[in-house]
Amino acid sequence: MCGIVGFVGEEKAAPILIEGLRRLEYRGYDSAGIAVNGDGVTVVKEKGRIDNLQGRVDEINPQGTIGIGHTRWATHGAPDQINAHPHRSMNGIVTLVHNGIIENYMELKNDLIEKGYKFKSQTDTEVIAQLYDFLFDGDAITTLIKTAEKLEGSYAVAMLVKGYDDKVFAMKKDSPMIVGKGDGENYLASDIPAILPYTRDCYIVNDGEFIEISKNDIKIFDKDGNEKEVEIKTINLSIDAAEKSGYDYFMAKEIYEQPKAVMNTVFPLIKDGEIQLPFEFPESFKKNLNRIYVVACGSAYHIGITAKYIIEDMVRIPVMVDIASEFRYRNPIIGKDDLCIFVSQSGETADTLASLREAKVRGAFTMSIVNVPFSTIARESDGVIYTNAGAEIAVATTKAFSAQLSVIYVLSAYLAHEKGLMSDDEIKVFTSEILKLPEKIKTALDCDKITEELSKHIATKENMFFIGRGIDYPLCLEGSLKLKEISYIHCEGYGAGELKHGTISLIEPGTVIAAVATDDALYGKMVSNIKEVHARGAYVIAVVKEGTEGIEDVADEVIFVPKSSKYLMPSLTVIPLQLLAYHTTVEKGLDVDKPRNLAKSVTVE
Ligand code: M6R
Repeated sequence: MCGIVGFVGEEKAAPILIEGLRRLEYRGYDSAGIAVNGDGVTVVKEKGRIDNLQGRVDEINPQGTIGIGHTRWATHGAPDQINAHPHRSMNGIVTLVHNGIIENYMELKNDLIEKGYKFKSQTDTEVIAQLYDFLFDGDAITTLIKTAEKLEGSYAVAMLVKGYDDKVFAMKKDSPMIVGKGDGENYLASDIPAILPYTRDCYIVNDGEFIEISKNDIKIFDKDGNEKEVEIKTINLSIDAAEKSGYDYFMAKEIYEQPKAVMNTVFPLIKDGEIQLPFEFPESFKKNLNRIYVVACGSAYHIGITAKYIIEDMVRIPVMVDIASEFRYRNPIIGKDDLCIFVSQSGETADTLASLREAKVRGAFTMSIVNVPFSTIARESDGVIYTNAGAEIAVATTKAFSAQLSVIYVLSAYLAHEKGLMSDDEIKVFTSEILKLPEKIKTALDCDKITEELSKHIATKENMFFIGRGIDYPLCLEGSLKLKEISYIHCEGYGAGELKHGTISLIEPGTVIAAVATDDALYGKMVSNIKEVHARGAYVIAVVKEGTEGIEDVADEVIFVPKSSKYLMPSLTVIPLQLLAYHTTVEKGLDVDKPRNLAKSVTVE
């Protein structure tokens, strides 16, 4: 949620800030603004997308080579111009931008109002500015530390302070922030894509650190004001990852990048038919691994349900799957013999991170499956497997989802082997099947044309259902989420056998049903379910493996995907479901990459 940028250098700041915000726009797009320090601080902010802001910036043409910027996902206060960041304190001591939520903002606000402070916006952010102003002791860093002591909640804050005209200051707690190191110029950002055109050398800011950047210097202070060592890491991400590269939308590009994303993810994990994980599980797991928890949100949660089907079948260990926002508050029963897996593209999702911390406190071994390098979830887990899918920009996840699936396959096989349920030879066969997936995904992408045709029909509908059994069921949840989040068509994903326990009453002539039926053992039952909805007038699109015979007799339309091992089918089945969502949204003329009310990285709970 919300994207922050900061720049100090010798070039004009405004274009660099705007470019950075464009690259962070996936984090929120309710309003945007910049503050540039030239001859005094100029604030320009507008409701809506960066294009609106760009128009105003072109008119005002703020001079100055130092500045901060923000793209907002509204939490406190309407998404309008007044609530847009940056916010300036009453006495002009500080101008700042913020990502996160200040939980005690009402209490602080009332206190500051009593002290004579006047507020312009409804945001929690303005409280940080006024508080800093009130506490200002003439020293930017000590005031920042005192301000942080009074704040409850999460924040990444970047600020310009009066009297420090060559510097940008920042602090963070539970919201991501990086410092980019350039040559005679330095940067701040919520995420790596913002600074990729300029540098790959970064400092990943930790909670409780206070930052001062000038064009030639980066200083990090701890909560006692002591200066810390600045450990620069080089991020290995290509700039293309944050460009559309000729595609109309990032989502289309990312769908087509899936073969590469899967290959780059599994390749480092499989060597000569053996699985090599980048960390070691506790020795005791060999005998005592009791239970596995998978905790995540949204699409990553669907990875968890898929993992349950695969791991329980292959490894014979119970798998509990939790939505992170529930897990963190439900007093889960976990201990040292349990493995907790946290799945997150961004590695910053607030609920998933809080769940990880909860699991650690309870003594479980934690591992994460994360896409963004050095993100907080990756750094705080006992072990991490990176999905090397590259930067994912579209709000709807596609390539990261596919990469996460491929990690689940490798991990399941690894655990099955450790438990003696898969021999070396079986592992060789299974991993060679995994390595064939990128080519098969390429073939599955051939369904682009038919999904585009079908989308013309789906785009006219208000409801749609996805039904499946076994390992196809979580894919139905994913297909349904994908379609509803970007096309705004109401969708539900159902276990096909569950339909007659309520939902079938919603089926009427013309209702569109996508029926996913790739599991041979359950195929006959799926055919019966398809017939039941067909008999009630539903229009059925079946998604099946190539070579499935007789399906044309029961479904109105059929999409064939390549065959693979039953465990690996989700990687192929998901492709037409993503394309249906994509094309339907394009057909409806909606913004595929930035659906309303959503943001890519959910860093507030
Ligand atoms: O960054 P994360 O993977 O932790 O994000 C979790 C969900 O917010 C995410 O999967 C969301 O559901 C996607 N927009 C779905 O396409």
